[in-house]
Amino acid sequence: MTHFYPAFLDLRGRRAVVVGGGAIAEQKVVALLDAGARVSVISPSVSRRLDDLEAAGTVTIERRPYRPGDLAGAFLAIAATDDRGANRAVWAEAETRGVLLNAVDDLPHCSFIAPAIHRQGDVAVAVSTAGKSPALAVRLRERIGRLIGPEYATLLDLLGELRAELAQRVPDARVRTRLWYRIVDSDAIESVRRGDIAGARARIGRLVEAEEPETRGAGIVYIVGAGPGDPGLITRRGLERLRAAEVVVYDRLVHPDLLDEAPPWAERIFVGKRSGGEGHPIAQEKINALLIEWARRGGIVVRLKGGDPFVFGRGAEECEALRAAGVPYEVVPGVTSAIAAPGAAGIPVTHRRHASAFVVVAGHECGEASDLDWDALARLPALVFLMGLRALPQITARLITHGMSPDTPAAVIASATLPDQRTVTGTLATLAERAYAAGLEPPATLVVGDVVASAPVAERDRPAAAACLSPGAM
Ligand SMILES: C[S@@+](CC[C@H](N)C(=O)[O-])C[C@H]1O[C@@H](n2cnc3c(N)ncnc32)[C@H](O)[C@@H]1O
Repeated sequence: MTHFYPAFLDLRGRRAVVVGGGAIAEQKVVALLDAGARVSVISPSVSRRLDDLEAAGTVTIERRPYRPGDLAGAFLAIAATDDRGANRAVWAEAETRGVLLNAVDDLPHCSFIAPAIHRQGDVAVAVSTAGKSPALAVRLRERIGRLIGPEYATLLDLLGELRAELAQRVPDARVRTRLWYRIVDSDAIESVRRGDIAGARARIGRLVEAEEPETRGAGIVYIVGAGPGDPGLITRRGLERLRAAEVVVYDRLVHPDLLDEAPPWAERIFVGKRSGGEGHPIAQEKINALLIEWARRGGIVVRLKGGDPFVFGRGAEECEALRAAGVPYEVVPGVTSAIAAPGAAGIPVTHRRHASAFVVVAGHECGEASDLDWDALARLPALVFLMGLRALPQITARLITHGMSPDTPAAVIASATLPDQRTVTGTLATLAERAYAAGLEPPATLVVGDVVASAPVAERDRPAAAACLSPGAM
């Protein structure tokens, strides 16, 4: 399969001929004028706007049908007629003269096709579908448009100003390339978005200085919530921080696709348990020391944690250590599985009729030595247990012993928001056995309360496979 060769043409001062005078021809004329072309229109009748452009002396118009010879001296032509015969004739002349031709909606008579363009200042993104679906190209362009706002045009202007200076200050081309990526991946865009251009300049300035070892200043640690599983559930800010990272320190529950978002040269350091929960996690003190060390070397460190960093994620301990070490940090909250796992199965954690409060409990602390107030828990309308799959029989039994009805609805959601999400529902009396029979594997979240019965739970269960619970802690 051959592809169209993408290019942005410099049309300044070049002759462009548009055959046709309707609404589409008008759009093409405006775009050609915008690119600085000298535009001639050939059509028996033309739109009012084209009339106005002619009156203003911006275009010339021949009010007659196309005839051979009209493309003389043209660099590029557009046939915007609905007459295939006319298109064929224009095509024949264009081919003879070597003039680039786009015949609108008539691919066989095109030597170039016009992409859908998203433009912000000097940033232009062109989308082509090889002429197969202009409508899809437009929708894709709109999606891109939502990602690339006016702040990128401003950032580009800033970068353009810097180009010559940077070439002087950082003569090594390889180092300079890396630095450019650092700058564009950095949070300078955030400052621009807020309208703080001076802040963006200062941020870029610090990055440039940081490239010189003797001036390399203190780094920063971003403690970022990665969301419950699906990589689309990280926040926009989290993703921006990740894309700017020089070091990513991550846990087991972080989706691998998110790691691909960090720059290719970023160091990736795994500090979680192996899959299935086996092996020894790295001691928290070691993780703290790692974050401090990398930040002191001047790096942008992203500590990426499943869900929200402050929900059973030891984020608080890391913040304490960073504070004590005088290392700057910022917390980027995440979507916690405590709310998102039930939500992904259609279970709300609050409900006007069923629960005006919910608690989140560390399920792995529910064994014999648990010092939780079970009488109080048993009185609450909605309970969410994380890390509780292994202790599920003890948790449900305890709640019943402490006064909760055995008929209270309950559900376990495993691998929530991921393609292998599974939900098992039952009551306090039946759930542990059902979850065991279904062979659910961690990570899994338990929900207890009438909220479970308040909404139809997404039916994604597969038939029970190997009926055994993973021995690993969740
Ligand atoms: C150490 S805790 C961390 C929680 C995380 N900080 C959060 O806010 O979601 C890990 C527990 O979160 C729950 N969990 C995480 N991801 C999950 C998922 N995709 N589906 C169900 N539960 C999940 C499980 O209970 C798992 O044992």
